[in-house]
Amino acid sequence: MPDDALIAVKPDLAQGARVDAARHRAMTEEAIRDPEGFWREEAKRIAWMTPPTKIKNTSFEGDVSIRWFEDGVLNASVSCLDRHLETRGDQVAIIWEGDDPNSDARVTYRELHERVCRMANAMKALGVRKGDRVTLYLPMIVEAAAAMLACARIGAVHSIVFGGFSPDSLASRIQDCDSTLLITADQGRRGGRTVPLKTNADEALRSCPSVKHVLVVRNTGGEVPMQDGRDIWCDEACAAASPDCPPEPMSAEDPLFILYTSGSTGKPKGVLHTTGGYMVWASFTHELVFDYRPGEVYWCTADVGWVTGHTYIVYGPLANGATTLMFEGVPNWPGIDRCWQVVDKHKVNIFYTAPTAIRSLMREGEAPVRKWSRQSLRVLGSVGEPINPEAWMWYYRVVGDERCPIVDTWWQTETGGILISPLPGAVDQKPGSATLPLPGVRPALVDGEGNLLEGATEGNLVILDSWPGQMRTVYKDHERFIQTYFSTFPGKYFSGDGARRDADGYYWITGRVDDVLNVSGHRMGTAEIESALVAHPKVAEAAVVGMPHELKGQGIYCYVTLKSGEEPSDALKKELVAWVRKEIGPIAAPDAIQWAPGLPKTRSGKIMRRILRKIAANETDSLGDTSTLADPTVVQDLIGNRVG
Ligand code: PRX
Repeated sequence: MPDDALIAVKPDLAQGARVDAARHRAMTEEAIRDPEGFWREEAKRIAWMTPPTKIKNTSFEGDVSIRWFEDGVLNASVSCLDRHLETRGDQVAIIWEGDDPNSDARVTYRELHERVCRMANAMKALGVRKGDRVTLYLPMIVEAAAAMLACARIGAVHSIVFGGFSPDSLASRIQDCDSTLLITADQGRRGGRTVPLKTNADEALRSCPSVKHVLVVRNTGGEVPMQDGRDIWCDEACAAASPDCPPEPMSAEDPLFILYTSGSTGKPKGVLHTTGGYMVWASFTHELVFDYRPGEVYWCTADVGWVTGHTYIVYGPLANGATTLMFEGVPNWPGIDRCWQVVDKHKVNIFYTAPTAIRSLMREGEAPVRKWSRQSLRVLGSVGEPINPEAWMWYYRVVGDERCPIVDTWWQTETGGILISPLPGAVDQKPGSATLPLPGVRPALVDGEGNLLEGATEGNLVILDSWPGQMRTVYKDHERFIQTYFSTFPGKYFSGDGARRDADGYYWITGRVDDVLNVSGHRMGTAEIESALVAHPKVAEAAVVGMPHELKGQGIYCYVTLKSGEEPSDALKKELVAWVRKEIGPIAAPDAIQWAPGLPKTRSGKIMRRILRKIAANETDSLGDTSTLADPTVVQDLIGNRVG
């Protein structure tokens, strides 16, 4: 598809839109000309106990300090709950759709408020205080949203660990932030199977002495062992607790949550978001990007274990008084048409998912989509990885009947919310492009030396100035924060992504330029998979790279050197795949393992990943310069034994 294929904003959408093209231009100009004034106004979209007078106090230089609305006082749960009680207390806040198509539930703002207050009091009764960390390891059930808001209510900092992560991954995330409470469930449900959450948690907790109590949500009713004195059934604790819990006054810069994410080196880092700026950003972006209108049903298919679930299932939609749909299951169970069945069942107006889901549905053809009306759909969204133009067009043509604009939203765990995206009523779309920055966002492209590149070009994607939703630090490791994001190109936030900008100023994200993989929209550090592999007793060395994968975007390709005396075999390959699944979780399962008697290294011992990527991608006629290798014959051997 040519770059200039343009899908113009539909006039009827522009007419009723929260933001049309003229307003978009005006907001963009205003946010650059007078950031203080612009954000002072936008801050009013959330509820403050004391409105801020100091708006922006940020520096990307030196020690890097990011403070927004710093003298404001608020509680995030009030913006999401209390302030709606008068105007929309009986409106549905959360529609819950179970894994089983016959199970669903509707929770109004008033009911959610009560559930949150009870859970907050139950946590208080267990000794949880402002500033304490609470880890959540939960399925996609209403209690997950309630637990997040209950933490916010009492000023505890939540750290959610995706329910698909292994006991080891859970343990390391608990240890890093010394949580005193873990909230989990007996079991989760996904695609007709159960997920042994409590059993996993028990295993993790053997190495987590900081955890004093475990609140266990009764979800499937499955038998699980309860440890006396430590484990408490959540429903019993909540029933015994008062439904009245005054919100803890929080400074705008007090932490709201920690979320662990993978980087190119070391263990996952604790991305820290604070209260005021994050809430403003969540509300602002959710309203603008999805053109959210009162009364609409909004469905984001992410899991609350990822940042998308934080900002666009819970905080953004609830701050905006939306009806947000939480889906416990998976898009292809019990049938490949599950998403469209749910869209019709609940009359979903806005649907937000990942390209990997679109690609796998696309493979099954149009019939399962056409079977359902989808008439309620108005806006479609994409997030998590680059969406190829073919998948974009299929989404647009088949799912949206060429009626619904597609917002391809670029952002990261670190950015708190969307930074680059079209607005449905304001920005013409180009299939495959995230298009233009939101008002107040200043992206730029730089070359390898950090020089700003002008006009139509390609380079490293940086952001020149702070926006309210930006992460503030790496939990307990500010030095790592500076190193990771501000040292490659001093004075600029480096995203780790590459991008192209066309003559219209539209951005086309090309993917990570560091050693981070994006597998089905999930971020994985190659270093984490490598350390899992070398922890196996038969493995001497491992190098992991991404390879193109039709459905997942990127697949995980591992080069493994066995210890001397160990025999390579297909059985051992299977064992290693199972090993990585167990060490990290199923999302990290290798797609290909190649035995590598040697790895291509420079004379100083550095692995030349560039070459390994080329071999994995089967692009061996463009290997580039191999003259700096200590032993060039290694490369021929690897090419000869490529898998796939
Ligand atoms: O490479 C970009 C890709 O996902 C990375 C961020 O991953 P994570 O922190 O897990 O957050 C995912 C949900 C926001 C980015 O560095 N990415 C995200 N959205 C897009 C994208 N790549 C291309 N287009 C997007 N719309």
